[in-house]
This record gives sequence, structure tokens and C-alpha cells, in this order.
Amino acid sequence: MNKLFTPLSAGKLRLQHRVVMAPATRMRSESGGVPGDLMVEYYRQRASQGGLLIAEATAISPYANAYADAPGIFNDAQQAGWQRVVDSVHQQGGQIVLQLWHPGRQSLPELSQGHQPVAPSALLARETYGVGKRDDGGYAGKLFPLPRALLASEIDEILDAFRLSAQRAKDAGFDGVELHAANGYLPEQFLLDGSNQRQDRWGGSLANRARFLFDVLSVLTAVWGSGRVAVRISPSGIYGDMHDSDPAAKFSYVAEKLNDVGLAYLHIIEPRIVGPEDRDSTRYVDPVASRQLRAFYHGIIIAAGGFTPDAAEKMLLAGEADLIAFGRLFTSNPDLPARIRYGYPLTPYQRETFFGGDAAGYSDFPAYHQA
Ligand SMILES: Cc1cc2nc3c(=O)[nH]c(=O)nc-3n(C[C@H](O)[C@H](O)[C@H](O)COP(=O)(O)O)c2cc1C
Repeated sequence: MNKLFTPLSAGKLRLQHRVVMAPATRMRSESGGVPGDLMVEYYRQRASQGGLLIAEATAISPYANAYADAPGIFNDAQQAGWQRVVDSVHQQGGQIVLQLWHPGRQSLPELSQGHQPVAPSALLARETYGVGKRDDGGYAGKLFPLPRALLASEIDEILDAFRLSAQRAKDAGFDGVELHAANGYLPEQFLLDGSNQRQDRWGGSLANRARFLFDVLSVLTAVWGSGRVAVRISPSGIYGDMHDSDPAAKFSYVAEKLNDVGLAYLHIIEPRIVGPEDRDSTRYVDPVASRQLRAFYHGIIIAAGGFTPDAAEKMLLAGEADLIAFGRLFTSNPDLPARIRYGYPLTPYQRETFFGGDAAGYSDFPAYHQA
């Protein structure tokens, strides 16, 4: 595991190793989407000297949320809660970026102050269901309702919400922000033709479809400067009923244009994953992965999705990515970088406690030396 433990600069992030914690929604905020003691402890446990954590999808607006008890970053209480998380990670010598999230048509009115979901076009995410807590009596398995198409003036309001959230993340002390443009959420809904049929400047041509993504990134870099903004994409993703007539063209265009943004990194989910699940290989059509996008994007790439430590090392040695993010393995191995480095056994993850609940199956997995 040699290459995984070599240092690297990703924009302005100075990393001591290449084992990154992938963003993972765990639905354990306190009421009002405020990170509390439970989350402070969870992220503290996963921080490592010079390592990078990507905090979970965090709502930028009270009107667009998909998961009960997912955190937000649009008011003072949420910002203060995140500041405690950030401080605890920094005290361990770790770094942490916040994933900024607008779910668009994958929002539930019950969690969004009654607002109907908004999207580029009024197109339903078929067979896409809310992820519920085990005990919340209802969101799990609820279909997302038909969204309404955004007015151009409302798109400006959303850009403004991204700007304010990015500023709050900065004020909370984060090391950067990652735009969630993967897994069928709003930026990807604009990009792909299965979810965007607009004829105005936000739809039609490739440049128009990508406009929202790049406008959000320019808002974020206006707040943060270069080298501290990142973006996550899932170029072969189908989660959220996403489809497109030519994903390879869309994502190679995006990857090439990202060279001009001055990102910290481009984060790519590999084709073998759909949202939080392994992918059914029969639906594995025309995959676009880091390997292909490397030819278009010349900066730092994080690859994520189904990695074992061996596969991660191989990917780095093949030069197909610079950093590897681990999702599920980090849930049950708080000291994952050390376990990989020293070859300690890995604790299997517990799917039943992924979404919602208390410390059980969340912050009660011991580090190897405590076990
Ligand atoms: C419980 C859980 C929650 C997740 N939440 C998010 C999220 O908030 N944002 C995101 O971009 N991906 C999310 N994902 C996807 C992971 O970041 C990652 O891409 C996926 O788990 C595949 O990586 P792995 O095979 O290492 O687990 C989630 C995955 C899991 C298992």
C-alpha cells in the first residue's frame, strides 16, 4: 500500500495520504438539521493526520431536502454546529470539506417546508424513493412527487443560496467545499437530457445544459478562491432515474471545461456503484469512468465506488486517479487509513444502521487498537 501513503497537494489542500472519506448521509443531525454531539464525535473519530474527510450532503436551502435529519448550512445554528465538527477534525490534524447539496426533483415536500420539488423540467424521477430513517414512520419508500420547472429568476435564487452556504462553510472553518453534482441531484438534472428539456439558456446545447453546474462553481470559487472548491460527478450514474442520450459526450465536455475552474479536485464515482449500492451489472451500459475522463481533465482526480484497499492501490499505480475515496468501509472502520496502512483486519459495515438512529452502528465502532 505504498502509493496510498504518499503525500499529495490537491489544489490548496496538503494531504499526507490518499485515503479519503467519501461523503455519506447518515441522517443523525439534531432537529433543524443542526450537527450535534453525535456528529462531532463521528467525524472526530474518522480524522487522521493530513487526511481528507468529505462531510455528508448538506442542504443549502430549507426548500429542498430529501432525507429526514440530513444537515443543512443555511442558518446560524447549523453553521455553529458544523464549526464544532470542523474544530474537532482539525484538532486531530485532519482536513474536511463540506458537500453542498440541492436535490432538485429528489426532494420531499414534507422535509422542504411544504414546497413542491423544483427541477429543470417537470419530469418525474420514476421509481425513486425517499430514504427514510428506520423509525420515522414514513419517508422510506415514499415516491418523490412530480417537480415543477424552475423559472429563470428562481435559478438565480438558487445560485444565491449556494453563495450564502459557501460563505457559511468558510466561516465555519471548513478547508473547502465540494459541489454535489452526482447521483441525480440538481446540477446533474440540468446536464442530462433525460431530465432537462428546457429550450432557454439552461437547456438544449451542451454549453447550456452545463451552464448551471459551471455557474454554481463560479459562485463557489468567488467565495473561496481557487484550489478549495471541488465537484463530484457520477458519469455512469442511473440513481434518481438519470439517463442521457450520450453521457460520454456530456461528461468529457464537462471534464475538459473544468480545467479552467481551478478546482481542488474532481471526484468521480466509478460505474460499479449506484448511489449507496453496488450495481446490478446487467444495467451496466456504456460506462464513463475516471480512466476515460483522465484524458480530458488534467488536475487531481478522486475515484470512488466499490474500492478495496488492493484495488485502490492498483488504481493509483495505473495512474487513473490520484486519491481514492471509501464510503461504506469508513462507516465501520473509523481508523481506516491506519488499518489499510498496517494491514489490520477491516470490520464489515452494517447496512441497517446507515440511515438514522443513534450512536449504535454510527459512532460506536472502535478503532483497531481500542478493540
Ligand atoms: C450510507 C451512505 C450514504 C451516502 N451518502 C452520500 C452523500 O451524502 N453524498 C454522496 O455524494 N454520496 C453518498 N453516498 C455514496 C458514497 O459516497 C460512495 O460513492 C458509495 O458508498 C460507493 O463507495 P463505497 O463502495 O466505498 O462505499 C452514500 C453512500 C452510503 C453507503
